[in-house]
Amino acid sequence: MMVCRSKAKALIAFFAATTLFTSVATASEPARHDSSEKNIRERADALIAQMTPDEKAAQLTQFFYLQPVPAANKAALDALGSTGVGSLLFVTDPVEVNRLQHMAVEKSRLHIPVLFGFDVIHGLHTIFPVPIGLAASWDPKLVEQSQAVAARETRAVGVQWTFAPNLDIGRDPRWGRIVETAGEDPYLVSAMGRAQVLGFQGNYLGQPGRIMAGPKHFAGYGASLGGRDWDEVQLSDSDLWNVHFPPFKAAIDAGAGAIMAAYMHLNGVPAAANRWLLTDVLRKSLGFEGLVGSDSGSVNKLVVQNLAADKKEAVVRALVAGLDMEMVDPGQAPSMAQLPGALASGDIPPDRVDEAVRHVLEAKIRLGLFENPYIDEKAVGRVFADPQHRAAARLAAERSAVLLKNEGNLLPLDPHRIRSLAVIGPFADSVRDTLGPWVFDQNKPEAVTLFAGLKAALGPKVALRYSEGVRMPKRLFPSPSATADKMPDRQPLDEDQEIKRAVELAHQSDAAVLVLGEATNMISEGGSRSSFDLPGRQQELLDAVVGTGKPVIIVLYSARPIDLKGTRAAAILDMWYPGTEGGTAGANLLLGNAVPGGKLPFSWIRSPAHAPNYYGQLISHKPQPVQGRYWNESSAPNYPFGFGLSYTDFGYSNLRLDRASMAVGERIGVSVDVTNKGRVAGDEVVQLYIHQRHGTSARPVRELKGFQRITLGAGKTRTVNFSLGPDELRYWSDATKGWVQDETGFDLFVGGSSAADLKASFEVARQ
Ligand code: BGC
Repeated sequence: MMVCRSKAKALIAFFAATTLFTSVATASEPARHDSSEKNIRERADALIAQMTPDEKAAQLTQFFYLQPVPAANKAALDALGSTGVGSLLFVTDPVEVNRLQHMAVEKSRLHIPVLFGFDVIHGLHTIFPVPIGLAASWDPKLVEQSQAVAARETRAVGVQWTFAPNLDIGRDPRWGRIVETAGEDPYLVSAMGRAQVLGFQGNYLGQPGRIMAGPKHFAGYGASLGGRDWDEVQLSDSDLWNVHFPPFKAAIDAGAGAIMAAYMHLNGVPAAANRWLLTDVLRKSLGFEGLVGSDSGSVNKLVVQNLAADKKEAVVRALVAGLDMEMVDPGQAPSMAQLPGALASGDIPPDRVDEAVRHVLEAKIRLGLFENPYIDEKAVGRVFADPQHRAAARLAAERSAVLLKNEGNLLPLDPHRIRSLAVIGPFADSVRDTLGPWVFDQNKPEAVTLFAGLKAALGPKVALRYSEGVRMPKRLFPSPSATADKMPDRQPLDEDQEIKRAVELAHQSDAAVLVLGEATNMISEGGSRSSFDLPGRQQELLDAVVGTGKPVIIVLYSARPIDLKGTRAAAILDMWYPGTEGGTAGANLLLGNAVPGGKLPFSWIRSPAHAPNYYGQLISHKPQPVQGRYWNESSAPNYPFGFGLSYTDFGYSNLRLDRASMAVGERIGVSVDVTNKGRVAGDEVVQLYIHQRHGTSARPVRELKGFQRITLGAGKTRTVNFSLGPDELRYWSDATKGWVQDETGFDLFVGGSSAADLKASFEVARQ
């Protein structure tokens, strides 16, 4: 078939990945202000000593500032010129940011600057793949570099705080916010969380050209009942300590300056007022010392959630639990306005209020806002236009793609042998769905769709034929975000005719590329779904095109498993929502200028009825048949966690340990030889899983405890080393209500997915 082997280019891509960003971290902003810890605290306390209760309440308030909705912004504007405001979110126009900052600094009594926040989830101007895609790269360095670019663009417009990374565990793909997560596995989510915090913040909070990271949603939000967004969460202590808290621990250890408390109930107590969660766990056990913000409206909603009787009680319970700042829903009156009354009536300890205000002021001091509250509006264009940002986005899109199927080595296509290609589907030329959710400015003429990318790559000699195929159906219930549902005005499409036309184009072409999946407004917040079918008439379109007998490649834009009904299409490449350079990256992958090396960050389950069905479960008392949990179909996933193909094959051999047994607290070294058995260079993600045989608690059948993405030339072998010690082997036990490391036997498995079968064993024993 049309095959192109492009070893050199794949190696260039790899080296580019490791070296690209030496200069992105540098910034045109002033050097770090000299602020020792003592100095920071003293500065904050000096301000607090001068503040009235109203001014304290104002610092603990974060208003949406939407544009253009002047009426809803009135409360924020009034406060800016009098008491000041802790934070504003959603302003990204640098001119407006400066105007508002001037108001705060010049007109408020204490001249305290505003902290500007925004959801910079996968880029601000240059859009990267959605976080689940970034996680699929299994490449923390790449993820760090991607978020460093996002930070640089964000800081340039005057925003200093992102509500990211999302560190929820995505174990239930019915839940639409899986798109913002790094998937189902705590070890992978922790690695990606750490990488994102380092990317956003750099080495310390306040590093020039970087922003404050705000990992969210603390904690457990990914486990909402039935995968239904916002519904309650019930998790055991062992689930929380072993699965849901570790990514936050990793983010805190990486220096995260803020944490966002979740809004749903956790075991009956809304997270925003959950003292055990926000104080005992977050502050005392995980050692967090920064700013704890609420999610949107979640202090006001304590009343709706049947916890607090009124707004005053809501604010008291949230603050006493350990929350610092209230994010007020757009247009709503803050509960925080009740704070002066609560202080006067003695309902809230004044020290707790001062501590909360100190957390806000310390963040502002560390971020250098008092010294440099304004931005250079003229510099923004230059930062946005930096070609390295585009190059980074392309690389990230290439490295996050996961090849799920490639029968007969259909991919890569050989551009020298292709004369014509049909490019079909509702997302083939859709900017919006190339960018994905959490992109509010859809005016991005620079974004490259797959159709545009293929056109540029193949040039005029190849006949490229495009059909939209079908339209996306409307949601039954509108999305909570008005922007998400806003569809561009387009001529209506006669789908019967267009499907026929698509089939005709496929007939006339050497091969067909179908770009299918879920639309941007069908995923993310409020994007829960009870079916994994292709929405609308996409399956019909797919079946009709496959029916032509032409080679068919499916490129998926989605963030959860899609049920393709056992399609006979020969190749499936999952590109998630790949971002600004998605089309260039897609063309590179399809034409062999880049080699797919991403791996699934979740188990690709067959049906929503199976959810949750993650790989790291406990072995039941009736382990066999392992796939036979339902009588009517296999309960095994279509593709296991960690799975992904390449344009070459890898072999594993010579798994060895540097000792057979060790004592609690010691480490053991694991090595394996990985060989590229094919004829092109490619990437493999070498994965290490452990299984504890018995102990204080039963442990999962497998747990990821190490991974490395490597590039190997054709025919080459490399030894990959891992090390296992207390951090990897200990766990939190419900039997002892604490951390344990057992003296027991372990199996370990190494390979290219969670189904790896190369096995070794070791003992942890009294020496
Ligand atoms: C979401 C948060 C987000 C906030 C601000 C909320 O509805 O849950 O993740 O940061 O809105 O946009």
